Amino acid sequence: MPESILQVRNLTVHFYTYAGIVRAIEKVSFDVYKGETFALVGETGCGKSVTSRALTQLIESPGRIVEGEVLYYRDEGPVDLLKLDEEQIREIRGNEIAYIFQDPHASLDPLYTVGYQIAEAMEVHGKVKSIKEGIKKAVDILRAVLIPDSERRVKNYPHELSGGMKQRVVIGIGIANNPKILIADEPTTALDVTVQAQILDLINQLKEKYKATVILITHNLGVVAETADRVAVMYAGKIVEIGSVEQIFKNPLHPYTKGLLKAVPNPMTKIERLEAIPGTVPNLITPPSGCRFHPRCPFAMDICKQKIPELKEIEDGHFVACHLY
Ligand SMILES: Nc1ncnc2c1ncn2[C@@H]1O[C@H](COP(=O)(O)OP(=O)(O)OP(=O)(O)O)[C@@H](O)[C@H]1O
Ligand SMILES: [Mg+2]
Repeated sequence: MPESILQVRNLTVHFYTYAGIVRAIEKVSFDVYKGETFALVGETGCGKSVTSRALTQLIESPGRIVEGEVLYYRDEGPVDLLKLDEEQIREIRGNEIAYIFQDPHASLDPLYTVGYQIAEAMEVHGKVKSIKEGIKKAVDILRAVLIPDSERRVKNYPHELSGGMKQRVVIGIGIANNPKILIADEPTTALDVTVQAQILDLINQLKEKYKATVILITHNLGVVAETADRVAVMYAGKIVEIGSVEQIFKNPLHPYTKGLLKAVPNPMTKIERLEAIPGTVPNLITPPSGCRFHPRCPFAMDICKQKIPELKEIEDGHFVACHLY
């Protein structure tokens, strides 16, 4: 049996907007195993970012985590991350569990050198005693993320670096404290294709080097096939299928997963619209009853409108939430 590092149960996040309550994710459950790369995929707006952010309570107003449990297995034993107070979760976030976000411009502060920003990430978690000591270590981190001439680069401001280099710095901040779990939310979307490949390669190398677990959010199924061990497919705020990469790609069960795989002739394109599945992702203020996919599903039956399908294990480690099974 693989050992879980995260057990997410019934995670539910709502956004209380003027237009109504956006049911962004609803009773999302999955396990992440120690040392694996776990991919979250699905169309735009299906809840991938909200899910990953909610793991460490990174949901801002008007959003609220209304239900759920996120058991994080530390060496000392499991802790429910959703039960920690702000100070306790801050100790873990950016430290044991770190994020790499999509947009390096938003992740870096233009007013500080990259060395300072890496140093600060270490200092707030007590990994170095001073910014000065942190900047010395930042040189090694820049080297680890394959930025050439790191002694000089450490003194650069973000605007002095290319987009690809900035994203390497963001990854450097992510790994600065040697996290157990690295959550990469579309880490390469803002970059051009050749740089994308290099950055993914780098994340993989760092994962091996630091023995980290990676949660990779991407709309790029080519990347999933190449780098992930297991995949969770999300639709309209629910997980519809989970399995190994091989199970998902060779034997997709959910009609949505099948459509997703058919719809992406070019795996590098963003999943905005699925030609193979008519219709669009529903409004999450009034999501469809029963299975949220039923209005678009070619196999929909009466029960699909009435009953929310539970995730069921169909073959070893391969789960699907669909009334066909
Ligand atoms: N601050 C917010 N206020 C209201 N609704 C929000 C907010 N943030 C997210 N949502 C809603 O939550 C749902 C899930 O959004 P999320 O950003 O997780 O999607 P995603 O799968 O990451 O999409 P993408 O591929 O475009 O990044 C969407 O319906 C979105 O509109
Ligand atoms: Mg997102």
